[in-house]
Amino acid sequence: MRVLIIKRPIAAVIMCGILCLNTTAGRLVALSFGDIDLLNGQDWSHMAGAAVDSEGVNVRPLGRTIVNQDGSDNQVNPPINTRGPHLAFTGNIRLSATFNNASDGAVLFLYAHPPIIYDEWRAEPPTLRITTLGGSHVQAAVWDGTSDMPVETRTFSAPLTDDPFELTIERHGSWIALALNGRSLGNIRAHRTFSEGTLWFGMDALQHSWTLRALRASRLSLGRLALLGTPPLTVPHDDPSALRSLATKRDAPLTIGAAVAVHPLLTDESYRQLAVGQFSMWTPENDFKPQFVHPQPDVYDFTEGDSIVEAARAHSIAVHGHALVFGEANPRWMQQTPPSERRQVMVDHIRTVVDHYNGRVSEWDVVNEPLSDDPADYQNGNYGLRRHLWFEALGEAYIALAFRTAHEADPQAKLYLNEYGIEHEGQRWSALLALITRLQQANVPIDGVGFQTHVHSADDHVDPAVLRGHIQQLAALGVSSRISELDVHGEDQSLQASEYAQVAAACIAEPTCTSYSTWGITDRYGSTTQSHTYPLALGNDLMWDESDTPKAAYRAVQSELEP
Ligand code: XIL
Repeated sequence: MRVLIIKRPIAAVIMCGILCLNTTAGRLVALSFGDIDLLNGQDWSHMAGAAVDSEGVNVRPLGRTIVNQDGSDNQVNPPINTRGPHLAFTGNIRLSATFNNASDGAVLFLYAHPPIIYDEWRAEPPTLRITTLGGSHVQAAVWDGTSDMPVETRTFSAPLTDDPFELTIERHGSWIALALNGRSLGNIRAHRTFSEGTLWFGMDALQHSWTLRALRASRLSLGRLALLGTPPLTVPHDDPSALRSLATKRDAPLTIGAAVAVHPLLTDESYRQLAVGQFSMWTPENDFKPQFVHPQPDVYDFTEGDSIVEAARAHSIAVHGHALVFGEANPRWMQQTPPSERRQVMVDHIRTVVDHYNGRVSEWDVVNEPLSDDPADYQNGNYGLRRHLWFEALGEAYIALAFRTAHEADPQAKLYLNEYGIEHEGQRWSALLALITRLQQANVPIDGVGFQTHVHSADDHVDPAVLRGHIQQLAALGVSSRISELDVHGEDQSLQASEYAQVAAACIAEPTCTSYSTWGITDRYGSTTQSHTYPLALGNDLMWDESDTPKAAYRAVQSELEP
């Protein structure tokens, strides 16, 4: 009698000898203790690219790839069901998945924890990826949490002729055994995929849509196996000393905002408590950017942005949309659009995104970072505008067109232009002021300017008098201001605190400053984390440290807001 076709290590076979039976020759049948249905009754409707129908979960190709800042392709970014079921377990387990119409390019992911998604990078957790190939192979790839790339990939010959077919994935200690319709395909080392005792699921479609008909989990050894659902989006928030509470006690309305990311919002309780409890405005940090919502010319997917908006609305938190037109974070197809077609692409993109969020997103960064970094662009009569794909195709006119299009799509929304480095005197500020003046003269519907106010180096410092002066100059033109992306280097936490406080004081003192928003909440997910580092080399620029302990900066902002 054959037990389980695991050639190595021997220990797994011996252990399985106690626990595994076989009924029909060549079939793997294990005694399991409890059987968990991960599909029925679970939430799969909030995974990007997925649609639930009577057959199961239909997965459509999104083709999401993260682009580097220079526009080149980086990692693929397939969806994860962070709002759906996940598992907590000890010991050996089996997962069985029934695939329909999936013999080529169907992908199933098991993640030890959800990846952190940055704008130009994904921090890859320990992961198992299973891919069907050409009707005849199953590929397994394993990431171990120390690199962007899989540490091991194995391709197994597998006749994917039955429809549907069932794949089983069994963890046996440090090995993973794969089987198709009960017949062993082979093994691959688990590395650290199962070492955290939790599993999250993701899927992708590389060629065409396919359907996951069933997904079940069971135990193969003594131990724990529990199905965890996502906690409700709503959490109580009534701390009178929280930033958002302090701000409402003021005469002039001022939102206290932060950039938020969907995965921690859905999966990290402590992050969610801070996001909900402390802030009255959220800016989706990356989830609204073109590469995430509009990965292919005819593919929009708003699922992740929608979850942020839904959670915001449940807590009366306003949403500031970021960013409609930007030189970065554009999917490859958008970058490769011939200049003569870019006007249409830009207009369609703005219309579709603003229309989708009409009435739910109260403000937009319509144009993000229009100013150039190259001093030459400020000379010889040039206006200092960045030469990115939109400028190259349309010249300065792209800016007015973007605002007019956004305004048409949602006449109620407040429309902002967002830029960095304009809190200082110098050519960037002069160019910005001149640009806003030209837009005003041409009756372009622009409501405000976002001062990003990133303070990332030890010799950087915001002079609050200069910042206030700039806010006042814009006010004189009838234009509001907001602090849109504040974060401050934090080696010296008291210096950091005074920087946070001074910017808050400047904003509070100016009636046209509509929001004080920071670029992130906790250093655990900060945008200044060094890309491609394993373990993560975290930055220290935010008000809460990597274990969510508030820093001096938090208390300093609290006291600025106290009446
Ligand atoms: C940042 C994101 O926060 C990071 O995740 C990413 O790695 C880099 O981009 N100005 C902007 C934001 O307007 O969109 C940028 O966001 C930070 C600078």
